[in-house]
Amino acid sequence: MDIKKYLHEKKEAVDSFFHNYFKEQRRPAVLQEAMLYSLFAGGKRIRPILAIASFEACGGNPDEIVPYASTLELIHTYSLIHDDLPSMDNDDLRRGKPTNHKVYGEAIAILAGDALLTEAFSIFSDTSFCRTIKQADLLKALREIANASGPRGMVAGQVQDILSENSVPDKDILQFIHMHKTAALICASVKIGHILAGSSKDNLGAIISYGNNIGLAFQVIDDILDIEGDTEELGKPVGSDERIKKTTYPLLHGIEKSREIARQLVSDAVSSLSIFSAEADPLREIAFYLLNRRN
Ligand code: IPE
Ligand code: IPE
Ligand code: MG
Ligand code: MG
Ligand code: MG
Repeated sequence: MDIKKYLHEKKEAVDSFFHNYFKEQRRPAVLQEAMLYSLFAGGKRIRPILAIASFEACGGNPDEIVPYASTLELIHTYSLIHDDLPSMDNDDLRRGKPTNHKVYGEAIAILAGDALLTEAFSIFSDTSFCRTIKQADLLKALREIANASGPRGMVAGQVQDILSENSVPDKDILQFIHMHKTAALICASVKIGHILAGSSKDNLGAIISYGNNIGLAFQVIDDILDIEGDTEELGKPVGSDERIKKTTYPLLHGIEKSREIARQLVSDAVSSLSIFSAEADPLREIAFYLLNRRN
């Protein structure tokens, strides 16, 4: 299969949902402007695409999940706006553009993040997008996303990430940070695809194992790119982790070993999918794409 084409088509579907959803101008204008500034700055849309690919692998018709899958991007974008704030990673560049707070100031950036997060739950609880998706499954998936984003998931990881700056790197803490700040939402993305497709419990273990493995690999690769990447290609500054003494895989294991760990995680992710046949090819190809990504 042509994975580049697949990623492009799914990204277009997500973006077209957003264009339609946000076409009405709401007051105050600066809030919507700040939300859309970061949303349309050029993210890969990998979390919604994973949800769509998992939904398809579990037998769903991809069009139906697009609004719900898109909410993952709203949550992710909020997390990036807050992650870049001076009180957090203090970064000036994101998705190739000045960070939200550099353009709109800290107060509006914080509020734009809050707004993206809450809007995600407004969309997710809107049953008017459902045709074959059951409302009970929607509720189950909503809880999955809330848990992955909040104090049991991403927020817990972000807090530990901040607490661990300037500290002696510790393997368990590093694992906790990466599994929570990044893998949780990525794993939830594939899990909601499974839940919303009403798929059998027999497939769930495979999907969770795939999600956790690529979720961790994703952050290991992000850590490597922070050292070896190119700012222009990445759209965010390299050397940010070293500057604020973050706990990362390369710091604990070195670059070569980190690369090996990422390769192994991706290989384990793909092996988890052995109970699926060709319908899971997009999930398999996405795993390899993430391993070799340059941004
Ligand atoms: C960056 O995520 C933040 C991490 C969790 C590592 P992405 O690499 O998915 O960023 P965008 O959405 O493509 O900008
Ligand atoms: C951020 O990790 C994870 C989030 C939940 C936003 P990083 O701080 O390494 O992400 P980047 O490198 O700034 O994108
Ligand atoms: Mg960070
Ligand atoms: Mg950061
Ligand atoms: Mg990073």
